[in-house]
Amino acid sequence: MTKADMNKQPDEVASMFDGVAQHYDRTNDVLSAGNAVLWRIATVKAIGAGPADKVLDIAAGTGTSSVAIAKRGAEVVALDFSHGMVEVGRQRHPEIEFVEGDAEALPFDDETFDAVTISFGLRNVNRPKVALAEMNRVLKPGGRLVVCEFSTPPFGLLRASYRAYLRFGMPIVARLTSSNSPAYSYLADSIAAWPEQQVLSQWLRGAGFTRVAYRNLTMGIVALHRGRKPSAKTTKN
Ligand SMILES: C[S@@+](CC[C@H](N)C(=O)[O-])C[C@H]1O[C@@H](n2cnc3c(N)ncnc32)[C@H](O)[C@@H]1O
Repeated sequence: MTKADMNKQPDEVASMFDGVAQHYDRTNDVLSAGNAVLWRIATVKAIGAGPADKVLDIAAGTGTSSVAIAKRGAEVVALDFSHGMVEVGRQRHPEIEFVEGDAEALPFDDETFDAVTISFGLRNVNRPKVALAEMNRVLKPGGRLVVCEFSTPPFGLLRASYRAYLRFGMPIVARLTSSNSPAYSYLADSIAAWPEQQVLSQWLRGAGFTRVAYRNLTMGIVALHRGRKPSAKTTKN
């Protein structure tokens, strides 16, 4: 069974997701106790895409979010570097355009998309700041970024219980529901090592986004981050 480690080598991460692709969505629903659906609804609402919009869903996995975005009339491109996830996505959602590609080197021209989004993907990327800069590059001026990612509950008691669930509860549930349970110890480790809300906000600003903000979902277990690519370059006289 393939399990990536905290070095997040791209070939190991991709192969780990290849191994869980078939049962990925079901395991997600169980491990999140049904909250995954609510996080997805909040993410799609925050993207706010409509019929005139072209949206890039990065690290799209099997395309579950991509489909929800497309239902609002937007044209969606779903990108992922796991061949296994993309194959499952193409079978389940033939109406969506899937592209195999790396978030750190997006195979698109500058200023192609009205909105870019990534759900539960940035934490797995080897160089997340490089990926954020790529997101900025492919967005049109004024374009919107929405990042949905596990985060840090601000309340101490919840934070401690959540850490305990990650360490002891999640491996048991994963063993019962997933085809590759070692991958889910990577999940727990990667969530525990991921920076808190304020740090990720700084990374967005560092990548050139403005109007950066976030809101916590499920008391901070997940955070929804947003930013905008500035509308026009400011010229100095
Ligand atoms: C936890 S899954 C999330 C899938 C989907 N966005 C969702 O919300 O269900 C993480 C996905 O990120 C993809 N991924 C990780 N690093 C990537 C990279 N550098 N480029 C493209 N995809 C990547 C993995 O292949 C995997 O499908």
